Amino acid sequence: MSKTYKVTLKPSGEIVEVEEGKNLLVALREQNIYIKSSCGGHATCSDCILKVVSGEDYITPPPFAELKLLGNVFHITKERLACQTCLTGDVTIDISKHDRATDEAKLKNKTVNFSKKKQHIKIRKEPDIKKIRTERADERAKEEVENLAKAETWKKHWEKNQDSEAPKKLAGGKRPKFFDTDKVDYEKNDYTRPLSPEKQKMKDDRLETERLKAANDKKNIATDKEYKKFRE
Ligand code: FES
Repeated sequence: MSKTYKVTLKPSGEIVEVEEGKNLLVALREQNIYIKSSCGGHATCSDCILKVVSGEDYITPPPFAELKLLGNVFHITKERLACQTCLTGDVTIDISKHDRATDEAKLKNKTVNFSKKKQHIKIRKEPDIKKIRTERADERAKEEVENLAKAETWKKHWEKNQDSEAPKKLAGGKRPKFFDTDKVDYEKNDYTRPLSPEKQKMKDDRLETERLKAANDKKNIATDKEYKKFRE
């Protein structure tokens, strides 16, 4: 038979026995002592917090889940989660924050609020529901027919302009540019595409400007040596 330890409950002063290895939430609830809990003992709600008044050496250390929820502050707050605490000796704990009557009243208020909300919910009658269902079914059927028709048109898009005389466009509406062979000088072995007169003029102007600038730079530099230095 497993060991049992004495737990003194504050503020009532009641003394209960708790089995070794059983957490305080389960052990106290079994003895009909109310401890609030929303997560069912999974260390996620922190509703089951209680305060250790004495015997802090006789409780099991907090597991990782509890530390994650409350932080490593037991030495300051003396608070533990009942669902994560087992005993190794006699202790005194404060459960004054757990009051069944207060919690039940809070719950009742919530229920009242909910029922108030409920009054605004519109409840449809059977014939209305049937009418809406028929309308929606019709809409869906219409949509399906439209989609099918669209799919058929898409499938046959290549047949649409089969008989038309207009030349077919290539992808992206671009036509390949043909190479103008009349202007190619085969004797010179020059296959570069000749520039248009405007572009040729722009190129000539640019080259002339560059030549003049170079000549001017050269003039401004007194000796060849200096010029070389400048070029470097
Ligand atoms: S019951 Fe929720 S944290 Fe203990």
